[in-house]
Amino acid sequence: MHADIALGVIGGTGVYRIAGLEAVETHLPETHYGFPSGPVRVGMIDGKRVAFLARHGEDHGVPPHRINYRANLAALHKIGVTRVLAINTVGGITERFGPGVLACPDQLIDYTWGRVSTICEEPGTDVLHVDFGDPYTNAVRAQVLAAAQRAGVAVVDGGCYGATQGPRLETRAEIARMRRDGCDLVGMTGMPEAGLAREMGLQYACLGIVANWAAGCGDDAEITMADVLSIVETASSGIPPLLRSLLAD
Ligand code: HPA
Repeated sequence: MHADIALGVIGGTGVYRIAGLEAVETHLPETHYGFPSGPVRVGMIDGKRVAFLARHGEDHGVPPHRINYRANLAALHKIGVTRVLAINTVGGITERFGPGVLACPDQLIDYTWGRVSTICEEPGTDVLHVDFGDPYTNAVRAQVLAAAQRAGVAVVDGGCYGATQGPRLETRAEIARMRRDGCDLVGMTGMPEAGLAREMGLQYACLGIVANWAAGCGDDAEITMADVLSIVETASSGIPPLLRSLLAD
């Protein structure tokens, strides 16, 4: 019934609304998996309908391991979203991914545990073995990168997102291991979200906002939430022009 939603955006830490989105409707759909983290705000950007959901709730009340990722995605799906841009606040591990960088990763390693990571949980459901070689939808990545370029917003193309359990940050040894594994970025919410999106047939890409150097990668200064939020606030100024350009396509 709402099949005309051009894009669903899931906001991460520090991204609780989208500047320029005129919220015309609020939905709180109950899904097969329960309720999402908070209301889905559906508004217009340049004449296109966009749905926004704060992954941790609008008051950041839900920690990464407690997020009902299935309900969040199912809620977006239920109101007609087919294409999702997931905004994730992350730490940077390798040189290209310093604080303030926006990145559109193309690979993923899952270090999380104990999260419900599939829609194939209940007896009687078909067991899906979805292809996940490219964990993000290549077409959406290409759209995001082209839109960023048109808008003059710098976005690093590619990189491997390592999803950790949190909510604590990582030890230096953990990050050193992740670097050896090939991770460029570290965050706590990339999985199971990307895998569930694939199972649900949603087109899905990630826009990472690098908020800090991961443990042992920068100057060894303590990583504080205040610093993280201040970097995210500055870096996320690129998001509204990027979205406008993406939606104009
Ligand atoms: N580690 C994990 N998640 C994060 C980080 C980090 O350093 N920064 C922002 N989210």
